[in-house]
Amino acid sequence: MAARDHRHVITVADPAAMARTAAERIVARISENPGRVAICLTGGSSPRQLYQLLAGETWRGKIPWQRVHWFIGDERFVPADDPLNNMGAARKVFLDQLAPASNIHPIPTSTADPADPDRGAAVYEAGLKSFYGADELDPARPLFDLVLMGVGPDGHTASLFPGYPTLDEVRRWVVGVPKANVEPFVPRISLTLPTLASCREMLFEVAGADKRAILTRVFSGENLPANRARSTGETIWLVDQAALPEGFRG
Ligand code: 6PG
Repeated sequence: MAARDHRHVITVADPAAMARTAAERIVARISENPGRVAICLTGGSSPRQLYQLLAGETWRGKIPWQRVHWFIGDERFVPADDPLNNMGAARKVFLDQLAPASNIHPIPTSTADPADPDRGAAVYEAGLKSFYGADELDPARPLFDLVLMGVGPDGHTASLFPGYPTLDEVRRWVVGVPKANVEPFVPRISLTLPTLASCREMLFEVAGADKRAILTRVFSGENLPANRARSTGETIWLVDQAALPEGFRG
């Protein structure tokens, strides 16, 4: 493990090793909290292998499903059963078979007007505040035990895109994003940086040679959303060999 400014970078061999390491960290965080646990998942392809692992025999028995609640850091503004829906993908791969339905907290996309993702954002924000039991985040009491993250080719994370004003949002917990900067070009709903930061651990998963260019920019300290996303607790970046920037010294 190596310290890089605010983050710890852990290098792993490949996506399979990354999924195992992420599963171990999730189980470790759960075991540190004997009460109600909150995990915030992410979309995109990066967490797919992890989700499959959690559904498998080795890992599913290690999770106390009754007391773990599952949220999502950002959502594409498509119906819940659309293959592009982030929580829909997680539900299909592992949550629907293992987690009690009342412990799954999707961002609503069907009840709100497609032209106004802010409405869905406001509904999710109200739900998060009610779960947390307060309207203000207390740094001494993080909202999430663990927040999973990915990084896009433009340096976005969750649905917080470079140069967008939503990046500087400090009041709202969740925001509507009318237009995405990358595919799929559907409106998004995203937790804001302070909301995502309210966790014991933020865990990025970055794998594959096509991530190397953006990771080089991120690790050079460029002002990108993925660099601004950090936990009030620990921020961990899991990076596989193929994604590791040239000359990176662990
Ligand atoms: C989304 C995401 C997004 C994602 C990155 C990385 O809804 O698209 O949550 O922030 O994590 O774009 O995506 P990949 O894992 O597919 O590379």
